[in-house]
Amino acid sequence: MQVAVFKNEEEIGIVAAKRVARLIKSNPEAVLGLATGSSPVPLYRELVKMHLANELSFAQNRAFCLDEYVGLADDHPEAYRNFIDRVFTSHVDFQPGAVRAPSTSGPNLKEGALEYEAAIRAAGGVDLQILGIGADGHIGFCEPGGPLNSRTHLVFLTEQTRRDNARFFDGDITQVPRMGLTQGLATIMEARELLMIATGENKKAAVTAMVEGSVSAHWPSTVVQYHNDAIILLDEAAASGLTMRDHYQVNWEGFLETEWTDYE
Ligand code: F6R
Repeated sequence: MQVAVFKNEEEIGIVAAKRVARLIKSNPEAVLGLATGSSPVPLYRELVKMHLANELSFAQNRAFCLDEYVGLADDHPEAYRNFIDRVFTSHVDFQPGAVRAPSTSGPNLKEGALEYEAAIRAAGGVDLQILGIGADGHIGFCEPGGPLNSRTHLVFLTEQTRRDNARFFDGDITQVPRMGLTQGLATIMEARELLMIATGENKKAAVTAMVEGSVSAHWPSTVVQYHNDAIILLDEAAASGLTMRDHYQVNWEGFLETEWTDYE
């Protein structure tokens, strides 16, 4: 795990966007894994900027969203498919049909989950998976207590997750769906590279457990410790519980002005 701590989310957005751009330039057909939620928004903003400046095209890329709520109307603005469209994909040049999310409107969600797994596999797997982390340690919607080797599956969202996400639903937890369909931890772990963004004090406990704790279903994101190409971009608040920060923090001083290749 490469951990790096930055001053603010704008810096993280720039650094993360450089990483994504570097991948797409070296492999224009790269398959991206997209997280929703607020953490990656600064990254998506930077990618849109690069695209509008004619520096980056997504015309040959495909992308798979991590998860989706169950029970929201297809046109609900907080359905993750619509969220990602609004903050990112509709502003760049993905081809029609190139961006997929788990379908939660079909009659058989379990079958839908299997089809989603098959579609990811048929695309050759995810090259770079963008991740956030829940305050309860979830990635995707893989909540605490679930198996560490899960594939795309239906989940009940924890009370913590529903409380945290109520901010997207007028602060009203009763409007937050109780279930989601999510890529599993094993699905996520098959991505060739993980790029996680975590910002803010309420991520401190989850980040500390993920980086310094024992691997446990109690903190699902700890499974990332088994990934051999995971980058964790944090702000000071999210990193504030780490006791051994100097041992694993990459020295990325000056990184914002530099290209990734200069560091490899
Ligand atoms: C959403 C997802 C979730 C979020 C997590 C953090 O697609 O995968 O794991 O990344 O709930 O959400 P934010 O970034 O809103 O704090």
